[in-house]
Amino acid sequence: MKVITGIDQTKKIVSLIKEKKLTIALVPTMGYLHQGHLSLMREAKKKADLLFISIFVNPAQFGPSEDFEKYPRDFNRDRRLAEQEGVSYIFHPDAQEMYGGDFKTFVQVEELDSIMCGQRRPGHFRGVCTVVLKLFNIIKPDIAVFGQKDYQQLAILKKMSKDLNLDVKISAIETVRENDGLAVSSRNKYLDPRQRENAPVLYKSLKAAEEALRKGFGIQRAEKEACRLLEANDFVKGIDYLDIRDARTLGPVLDKKNKSDILIAGAIQIGDTRLIDNIIYRRS
Ligand code: PAJ
Repeated sequence: MKVITGIDQTKKIVSLIKEKKLTIALVPTMGYLHQGHLSLMREAKKKADLLFISIFVNPAQFGPSEDFEKYPRDFNRDRRLAEQEGVSYIFHPDAQEMYGGDFKTFVQVEELDSIMCGQRRPGHFRGVCTVVLKLFNIIKPDIAVFGQKDYQQLAILKKMSKDLNLDVKISAIETVRENDGLAVSSRNKYLDPRQRENAPVLYKSLKAAEEALRKGFGIQRAEKEACRLLEANDFVKGIDYLDIRDARTLGPVLDKKNKSDILIAGAIQIGDTRLIDNIIYRRS
């Protein structure tokens, strides 16, 4: 396994790989690797000849009062884990390499970026799209694998790929969870033991909404059931959103005759930590 920090060097390696007609899978990450990332890598590895991952805590997707500085980093541990997963190359640039030289160009997927997480984190998805498109241009993967844990991110990246006619196939894997249901996340590290014990309330609230829908209740009632659970937990400092939407369009759920999947998604604050999660309720 090789670690590459330079863009030009990466492009040279990529052209040699392409000359040999080998295919490339890419798993973009911000590092501090966990079981969710590792399962993306296992899936990606099956789909191409060579596996690249990127490790880059992307400043462009953090707001001014967000946790960019304190975001957990442990490159040596990440390198060991990646090697065990059979990664061929880690692309690990610094911010100067990615955004140096008077950077001025950003990619934005309109509308989808201003609901749910986008409402609370203006500019966040613009930063995500910009860095992911740069990674695609540098590494030229045939396939890129993302997690459904960040469902809105996945939807936005698929839209970017379609609208901009990218050649990369975007593939998704299901959310990896701890035994108690909490979605695995690098940010779980911020939780103290009592907060950690209470954090599965988010997943439980999504399941409560799903149960309400299954029983035939409407969207509003299902959202209420989920919020009731969250509000009853003293560790939940705030609910950013609890939304039930059409899983394909992220728009409102249409009438009952429409059998498309339903996204139940939420974001909450536990202490100073923001947690997000979602599940898909399949109607058919
Ligand atoms: P990061 O949070 O490091 O996540 C990298 C990838 O891992 C994303 O596709 C995310 O959806 C996936 N992932 C995270 N937790 C997961 C879990 N519990 N189960 C399955 N997959 C999980 O998402 C980002 O980084 C960044 O926004 C990035 C796309 C790298 C752009 O900077």
